[in-house]
Formats: sequence, C-alpha cells, structure tokens
Amino acid sequence: MPETTASPQEDRWTVRRILEWTTSHLKKHGSDSPRLDAEILLAHTRHCSRIALYTNFDDELTDAHRQTMRELVQRRAKAEPVAYLVGHREFFSLDFEVNREVLIPRPDTETLVLKVIELLKPLSGPKLLELGTGSGCIAIALAKHLPTAVITAVDISSTALEVAGRNAKRHGVEQRIEFLEGDLWAALPADHDKFDAVVSNPPYICSDEIQTLDADVAKHEPHLALDGGSDGLTFYRRILADATKWLKPGGLLAVECSGEQAEPIQLLVESTKQFGPVQVTKDAAGKLRVVTAVANLF
Ligand SMILES: C[S@@+](CC[C@H](N)C(=O)[O-])C[C@H]1O[C@@H](n2cnc3c(N)ncnc32)[C@H](O)[C@@H]1O
Repeated sequence: MPETTASPQEDRWTVRRILEWTTSHLKKHGSDSPRLDAEILLAHTRHCSRIALYTNFDDELTDAHRQTMRELVQRRAKAEPVAYLVGHREFFSLDFEVNREVLIPRPDTETLVLKVIELLKPLSGPKLLELGTGSGCIAIALAKHLPTAVITAVDISSTALEVAGRNAKRHGVEQRIEFLEGDLWAALPADHDKFDAVVSNPPYICSDEIQTLDADVAKHEPHLALDGGSDGLTFYRRILADATKWLKPGGLLAVECSGEQAEPIQLLVESTKQFGPVQVTKDAAGKLRVVTAVANLF
C-alpha cells in the first residue's frame, strides 16, 4: 500500500480500504486466493479474528499496523506462503504452528486422518507409527480423536521435530506421542513395540517436477518434504519394504498419495503378498488420495 500525503476522508487507510487494496495487489501478483490472503494477513497484524475485521470495517489502521501490513504484503507478493507469514495453519479444526522447516498441512491430508480414525476407532489403546511427521499435524489430530492411542512419530529433520513437539504440547497430547529422529524405519530402536497402524504422508513429488510447482511451494517449502525420487514412489517402496516387520498381524497400512500414484502403489502393495485387499479412498475433491491395506494374519 502506497504512502499517502493528504488525508481526506476517502484516503483514510481503513480496514475496508486496506482489504480492497491488498486483494487487488495480491491478485495482480498471482495469488489464487487474494481476498482470503488479505484477510488473514490483516487479522494477524491487528491480532484479531477475520470476523472482527468485518465488524470494524471503518477503523483506521495505526502507522505501526500499516507498516507491518506493508511488509507482509510485499513478502506475500513474492509468493511466500501465508501460513509461513503468520506462523500457523489450521488442520482438522486444530491450529498448528508452522515455519519454513515443515510442510504446510494440506486439507487433502484430512482424508488420511479421517480414514485412520474410522478404521482404528474400535481399538482400545492402539499403537500407531507415523513416518514423516513434519509439523506433527497427522499424529496430533489422530491423538486428539483416538484418545487411547499411543503414537510414535518419526522425521529425519530435527528442526521439523522441534515444531512437532511444540504442536503436541499446544494440543495437550505430548504424553502420548513419542518423537523419534531418523531415516524412516531406522529411527526405531530394534526392541520397539510393533504397531496396530503405520500411517504416512511421505514426500511424493517426482524430483524433476518440484521446480514446476507453484512458486509458493517450489521456492518456500522444504524440498526434503516434497522430493519423492525420480518417479515419486521411492518412499512407498521403502515403507513397504519393512512395513510387515513392524506391523502386528492384521495391522493397518495407510498412506497418502497423488491421484496418479494410487494405482502404482496398489500394485506395489499387492506385489508384497503380505497384505489383504487394497482400498483406495477419494478426497473431498473426488481425487484418489489414500491407499489402505491390512497386513495378513500370518
Ligand atoms: C510430505 S511431508 C508430510 C509432513 C506432515 N506429515 C504432513 O502431512 O503435513 C513429509 C515429511 O517426511 C520427512 N522426511 C523426508 N525424508 C524422510 C526420511 N528419510 N525419514 C523420515 N522422514 C523423512 C520430511 O522431513 C517431511 O516432514
């Protein structure tokens, strides 16, 4: 928002005017959701809810708030994700701290959480493993909705695990989530208990495709959280290689994937001959999103 000199009534930088100006500016700079971005950034600046912007439409911003907004809008116009700018993101109706060390939780991933809750709800005290926990959003949402579950959450990134640990405390589930740093299965001590479920939203973008993603993702989110190897399937192969070593007989494997990967992953699971029938679940947008299978009982 440009500096103004004179201040006739129509030139006052009110909430309404800042929202309109920011929306138009971010639209020109390629945001897919300029109005929403503008509201989130302004609510963050004013330490209020988005709804409170609408009930205070004619409030004039202080100079300090205008300066903060100016800086945030400049960064957003360079494709920095809103969630990193404000430091948090909602997932499964819970608020999670995020920073550049972790993938921003995606609505698509709620399908995985819903499916696991549906399948594990009948169990008492289930033991779950999440591989690649990032912000901890999956493990924490599961802990909140499966109140007797005990969860092990693994990530190779120590800085991501710091964020996940803070998020677990924020939601009061830190006593039921054990965070382990390491490379997938190698993070588990050899004498660790086996699991009723192994859940993962692994990195699954083909290495060559990362640079073709939206700038928000390609330039700002950690490539460690995105890069699924040359065909995007490296982590699924590695997960399947040891899954039944760590799953109890009858234990659940549940992984998120892209729509195009569902069939190849189904074939990979079937080729192990260690699981029962594979189920593929669609997300809210109707895309194939989650692959589940139960380990054979022998
Ligand atoms: C796609 S992100 C998922 C993050 C979070 N679970 C979510 O759904 O928003 C994948 C995560 O796997 C982690 N990761 C990448 N390579 C790994 C490895 N070899 N072992 C363990 N975690 C790994 C990344 O650091 C990242 O946090």
